[in-house]
Amino acid sequence: MEHKYPKNFARFYDTIYHRMRDGVDSEFFQKLIKNTKGRVLEIGVGTGRLFMNALEYKADIYGIDISPAMLDILLKKLPADQHYRISEQSITNFSFDFKFDLIVAPFRVIMHLIEKEDQVRALNNVYKHLASGGRFVFDAFVPDPGILKYGIDKQTDFDDEYEPGKKLRRIVTSIPDLVNQVLNVLFRLEWDDDEGPHSEEWETPLRFFFRYELEYLIERSDFHEYDITGDYTGKLLDKDSKEFIVICKKH
Ligand SMILES: C[S@@+](CC[C@H](N)C(=O)[O-])C[C@H]1O[C@@H](n2cnc3c(N)ncnc32)[C@H](O)[C@@H]1O
Repeated sequence: MEHKYPKNFARFYDTIYHRMRDGVDSEFFQKLIKNTKGRVLEIGVGTGRLFMNALEYKADIYGIDISPAMLDILLKKLPADQHYRISEQSITNFSFDFKFDLIVAPFRVIMHLIEKEDQVRALNNVYKHLASGGRFVFDAFVPDPGILKYGIDKQTDFDDEYEPGKKLRRIVTSIPDLVNQVLNVLFRLEWDDDEGPHSEEWETPLRFFFRYELEYLIERSDFHEYDITGDYTGKLLDKDSKEFIVICKKH
């Protein structure tokens, strides 16, 4: 089952994540894209947090996503003659009649795939769309044992103005389901506008992975060569790593 980002979550995505995420992963993904000669695909392109910057330095980049609300925001940022770069497609069955030298799925896109059949299908579909020598790079967080045990109870992770004089607050609850290996995440948005206060909730599961499951998963797919590092600077995985950065290569 697909969980598409709802309209108001797409609307406030940039306000929240340019602040919470740009300093973490942008430099890493921008460098990868800049150093690629040839076509690039961003899977789960969202509102274009990374994509817009890549276009500015003239990357030949395409983007797909399953959430029309996210793509609507991105398309509004793009000149009409660049809209051909964006399409509503899923990682599990997207199709292009050309190949890519780099495919990226930044910021937990893979964790939206709950079923293992979808995960394998996604990896094989990406493999099929890579040129030889091409790479697929994605990330997932290392599960936090405290959150796996206790979850998160109504934690405010954003509380600021989204426009002068207009407040936005995001409150996150996360309920672990260990057997199904998901965190059921409930996001609550509260904001003010000229009509008064508003709120909206959205629940979505996030599939968490352990290191060796990720390795088995990749080894089950058409990819045979891969590296997993422990942060966005290329540091090797160790017991304190908070991220899995996975780089799969096609010969
Ligand atoms: C956390 S956002 C990341 C957006 C963007 N890559 C960024 O770094 O800001 C995850 C995105 O993945 C998209 N997504 C979820 N499942 C997907 C799927 N099966 N295929 C393609 N995109 C998917 C969501 O709609 C959402 O836009």
